[in-house]
Amino acid sequence: MVLANQLKITKQADSTILYDASLIAKPTLQLFDSDYHINSDNQQNNSTLRASMAAPKTGIGRAQVIYFDHENLKMVLKHYYRGGLMASIFKDKYLGFDVEKTRAFKELRLLAKMQQLGLPVPEAIAAHVEKHLFFYRADLITREIENAQTLADVLMKHTVDTDIWNKIGVCIKSFHQYNVYHSDLNARNILLVGGLQEPDNVYLIDFDNSYFRSDAESWKLANLERLKRSLLKFKKNVDGFIFSDTNWSALLDGYK
Ligand SMILES: Nc1ncnc2c1ncn2[C@@H]1O[C@H](COP(=O)(O)OP(=O)(O)O)[C@@H](O)[C@H]1O
Ligand SMILES: [Mg+2]
Repeated sequence: MVLANQLKITKQADSTILYDASLIAKPTLQLFDSDYHINSDNQQNNSTLRASMAAPKTGIGRAQVIYFDHENLKMVLKHYYRGGLMASIFKDKYLGFDVEKTRAFKELRLLAKMQQLGLPVPEAIAAHVEKHLFFYRADLITREIENAQTLADVLMKHTVDTDIWNKIGVCIKSFHQYNVYHSDLNARNILLVGGLQEPDNVYLIDFDNSYFRSDAESWKLANLERLKRSLLKFKKNVDGFIFSDTNWSALLDGYK
């Protein structure tokens, strides 16, 4: 049975935190401070740093998160950065005033809803928005999916068996059946959990800018095509990246 999330809001100075009170008792501002986790010598609370960087960079996706332990849970902190042209000027500043419309609050609430639907996503722990006069900065904390590797990292070293490509297709289908549109469906946002040859589970992560859409075939097919383009791009840019038409057909078989 999936327990209901207990999302609560707390305000501290210029910050607003939305958190799941069933998972975290005291959402302090420190939890969202990457320097605090990195300089974990000054551990005054029960946070400990386990690793400071996510998967290696390949020039696709920016993937910088912080893994830490808090209240006996393994957590992942992500700070929101802008992409594209705006990145060089605004870095991590976003326009807006309504906390509910911020990327962090929207991603956390969407994660919580998907969790309740039983979809394979990381548990939503907390979203933090720091308001300034004309802009905000934001962070998200999710529960770490343990023993996981991104599909992209796996394909850089290993072949992925047909039944796993099938499972990936089944996983994406489960989201599409609930009309969840993943706005950045790529090989870094698919996690395989467990042994590489036979992962127990496939998860989707990174729902920034994602949302529930109407039930239509067109966007679902476009969403799949986007993933295929991402895989082909990796294959073009990364030596030894293993991806073939047969793999893609196996994914589609699972999706059907
Ligand atoms: N809950 C989680 N459990 C395990 N790994 C995670 C989790 N959240 C993020 N990661 C890792 O961090 C990377 C970056 O996180 P993501 O949410 O995709 O942000 P972005 O791509 O916007 O930087 C992911 O590709 C994954 O390797
Ligand atoms: Mg990502």
